[in-house]
Amino acid sequence: MAGKIPEYFIQDLLVRIDLVDLIDARVPLKRSGSNFMARCPFHNEKTPSFSVNRAKQFYYCFGCGARGTAISFLMEYDRLSFPEAVETLADTLGLSVPREQGEGPDRKAAMESAQALHAILEQACRFYQHLLKNHADARQAVEYLRQRGVSGEVARRYALGFAPSGYQNLPADWSSEVMRSAGLKTSSPSGRSHDWFRNRIIFPIRDRRGRVAGFGGRIIGEGVPKYLNSPETEVFHKHREVYGLYELLEALRKPDLIVVVEGYMDVIALAQFGIQNAVATLGTATSSDQVGLLFRYASTIVFCFDGDTAGRNAAWKALDSSLAHLREGRHLRFLLLPERHDPDSMVREEGAEAFRHRVETAQPFSEYFFDHLAEGLDLGNIEGRSALVGKAQPLIHKLPPGVFREMIETRLEALTDHAPKGPVSGGRGVDHSRDTRPAAGRPSAMRTLLALLLQNPNLIEHIDSQAADRLSRIDRQGPLVGEVIEFLQAHPHIAAGGVIEGFRGLPSSDVISRLIAWDTQVSEDKIETAFLDYLRHLTEDRVKERRFETLINKSREQKLSPDELQELKRLTNH
Ligand code: UTP
Ligand code: MN
Repeated sequence: MAGKIPEYFIQDLLVRIDLVDLIDARVPLKRSGSNFMARCPFHNEKTPSFSVNRAKQFYYCFGCGARGTAISFLMEYDRLSFPEAVETLADTLGLSVPREQGEGPDRKAAMESAQALHAILEQACRFYQHLLKNHADARQAVEYLRQRGVSGEVARRYALGFAPSGYQNLPADWSSEVMRSAGLKTSSPSGRSHDWFRNRIIFPIRDRRGRVAGFGGRIIGEGVPKYLNSPETEVFHKHREVYGLYELLEALRKPDLIVVVEGYMDVIALAQFGIQNAVATLGTATSSDQVGLLFRYASTIVFCFDGDTAGRNAAWKALDSSLAHLREGRHLRFLLLPERHDPDSMVREEGAEAFRHRVETAQPFSEYFFDHLAEGLDLGNIEGRSALVGKAQPLIHKLPPGVFREMIETRLEALTDHAPKGPVSGGRGVDHSRDTRPAAGRPSAMRTLLALLLQNPNLIEHIDSQAADRLSRIDRQGPLVGEVIEFLQAHPHIAAGGVIEGFRGLPSSDVISRLIAWDTQVSEDKIETAFLDYLRHLTEDRVKERRFETLINKSREQKLSPDELQELKRLTNH
């Protein structure tokens, strides 16, 4: 891996790639007016609301809000990282991706060391796997797995391994420093380094690209700790990885639904029964990063926890971590198993069909949410109802603004009769400051001007430095407009998609992509005229108006100079 990809190259790629062709090769598109339409590949729908615009080089889904450029499409659809997406596009044009020089030595060293860690973890994975088949003491481990019903095939698929007892089993010719950084070795108080995993069944934890990031190790039979995980390392973060995701994606390219369970053995038992879409957290509460990761692959997540107190707490914590990721088209469900059962024991007792049925009929988010909050409250009186509102509101505020949040708010109102009923379409509770839809009435001239400019970047030619200066001083949106103008002036002949990539990762990127997606209701042939009107209205006119007022006021108090008089006359005739 080398340095940063230079921006000019990204812009150049976006100019040369045609987004319509790129998407059409994966999701067949139908022409509709100036757009191309399809059923959205990012959420389930019956009628097409996914549109691709060739001129803008931008796609947008009216259903789920997915939007972006050729790069973001590949990132989402082909599940690539940013540099991978850029490389894929460059490949199709036969280009190689240049990298900027002068990258800090720290970053370079960090990347090299991450590579070294992944390499040694991969070697260790194969080493443990080999020992499960070949080590004399592995018999007990093999017998244990057999007795728990794990077939050789599933053991292979999850690359299960065996770490024998003893402190120095890992090969002596591997760098012990790299092994320590990878969490394979640890130092005893005397300073001697020894193997981290001893006499355990090894569960490799792979990242979504299949690289081994760490391991879980289960004691064979009874004992404490039952499971030991790799320590956090540069490449292993328990809050970011999930167990079994790589194996799931190998089996099912596009799962509709992912079941999140608590234990590695649960994932394995379910796989053994043909239920391939389960993953597990790594012995910690479900984190927001993990939920975000899973929603990239499936639109429904089912949290499946034990029915005991600990399981119920874990489910509620998972709900809390999920709120910020929920929106129209994404679903959460909760499955609390009967007490003293986990998915492993459950599926063995009742079989795959019954377990699937439980998953399919698991409690939907809204039901679980309100049931849980209303527990112990009497909604028959005002105290109970207001307590429910008090408990629900801070959580609802964690939901992103949008249709889904409105629906939950409406449900809360229905349950508590808390606020007077109004039309839902009025968008109560929606944070319009971040929304490109005007709350009511006309959108501001500034917003329309900016949207027109972003959607038709060649309009920049009409903005001279004076106009730029004036626009960037106008109200709250001035600074954003200034930023956009500066960018467009530096990048002539760019498409809207290019602007999005130019602002990727910056605070304004979200607003900008919303404005690009927004329908200004200006017809194709009137764009330039409309833009010039707005521009005049926002710059010249306003300035002239103010100047006119100043001169008039001045004339009431004192005599104007001949020049001023001349100017006032011109302004009056305008
Ligand atoms: P469980 O004890 O429910 O695991 O812990 P399990 O998978 O059902 O174990 P079996 O069936 O007895 O083999 C759930 C998860 O919590 C973490 C592990 O990630 C485990 O899979 N855990 C548990 C630990 O990290 N350490 C422990 O000592 C126990
Ligand atoms: Mn178990």
